[in-house]
Amino acid sequence: MEARAALLWGLDEDWSVEEVDLDEPEPTEVLVRMSAAGLCHSDEHIRTGDIPMMLPAVGGHEGAGVVEKVGDRVTSLEPGDHVVMSFIPSCGRCRWCVGGNPTLCDLGQYLMTGAPIANGVPRMRARGHGIAPMSLVGCFATHQVLHEASLVKIEPDLPLDKAALVSCGVTTGWGSAVHTARVKPGDVVVVVGVGGIGSNAVQGARMAGAGWIVAVDPVELKREQAKSLGATHTAPDVFQAFSLVNDMTYGQLADAAIITTGVAHGDLLGPTMSLVRKGGTVVVTAIAPFSQSQVNLSLFELTLWHKEIRGSLFGGGSPRVDIPKLLSFYKEGSLQLDELITKTYSLDEINEGYEDMRDGKNIRGVVVFD
Ligand SMILES: NC(=O)c1ccc[n+]([C@@H]2O[C@H](COP(=O)([O-])OP(=O)(O)OC[C@H]3O[C@@H](n4cnc5c(N)ncnc54)[C@H](O)[C@@H]3O)[C@@H](O)[C@H]2O)c1
Ligand SMILES: [Zn+2]
Ligand SMILES: [Zn+2]
Repeated sequence: MEARAALLWGLDEDWSVEEVDLDEPEPTEVLVRMSAAGLCHSDEHIRTGDIPMMLPAVGGHEGAGVVEKVGDRVTSLEPGDHVVMSFIPSCGRCRWCVGGNPTLCDLGQYLMTGAPIANGVPRMRARGHGIAPMSLVGCFATHQVLHEASLVKIEPDLPLDKAALVSCGVTTGWGSAVHTARVKPGDVVVVVGVGGIGSNAVQGARMAGAGWIVAVDPVELKREQAKSLGATHTAPDVFQAFSLVNDMTYGQLADAAIITTGVAHGDLLGPTMSLVRKGGTVVVTAIAPFSQSQVNLSLFELTLWHKEIRGSLFGGGSPRVDIPKLLSFYKEGSLQLDELITKTYSLDEINEGYEDMRDGKNIRGVVVFD
């Protein structure tokens, strides 16, 4: 069938919105008509080359849509079902899935190549090339064929533009606080970078019962929005956050700090680690350029103050547990999703959406399909 999609042909180029050919789903695959796709910073990392990926690629890994067709070995979905994408597939069978770490599923090995799990052959083609889908999702497209393992069924009464955010940003940010930082009631938590992911780390910290939540961001709009999501204090950078946290805790410092800046830079780790107390935790959720291997960090402080640095992928929980759970929190009113969408765009306006992200104008921009 024919579809339209936002493709990336070369590093640092704009997304090119064009007609593509899409194959029928294989037996374990599903054809989805997209409703909405969030403009996460991770797709920008592909454009800049921070995340190495096969090109040409179709972007988008944070999305929601409606199932149109299923392959004959698909058991969990049928046409008409509403779904959100899981940017890490979970097979339910590998050591990591059954051991309680499904975000580390062995199917993750296909993410960078974009080679479909079923048989490695691209389902989307344009200009005579196979197109690799970002995170095996590639939801910057009117339609996409995905493996069943990349989809999570959701309740049909949920608004799909809001549900799309839970496909990556909300689950990643919320889980970074709840699962990876293991925030407890009364904790002091610092979130460094409060865009699409960090805003939800603030919400996760709030829902876990944090006493004080300090949102750090150079952009005033982000700091203001963070307050409406649960931040009790704000600071424009980690150094001013240090003075604040030092004063408010009488020198004890924060229990946890979560790095959710647009790009993870090695020189941010040391000052962020200095924000946490003895035995405190630093969570690194932001993605660094693949080739970056240097960090600026006091190993003395790490050892003698018994501090901990933890990476966090997709919030460190389980997409099949957390996505429906977070959507039920939204329904009952404890999780804010409406407030996260600053602006919506058509697929043709996707470059404008990313320009707005780079300019710090959006908490989250969302592409809404007709
Ligand atoms: N680990 C995962 O599973 C996962 C999943 C999704 C996204 N990510 C990554 O998380 C990061 C954040 O993504 P996003 O979509 O929220 O990006 P975003 O661009 O919406 O937000 C980033 C925020 O960081 C702020 N910022 C930049 N430099 C800063 C600094 N030095 N100090 C404080 N704030 C700073 C920006 O002003 C912005 O508000 C990206 O690196 C993204 O790739 C990781
Ligand atoms: Zn994302
Ligand atoms: Zn698995």
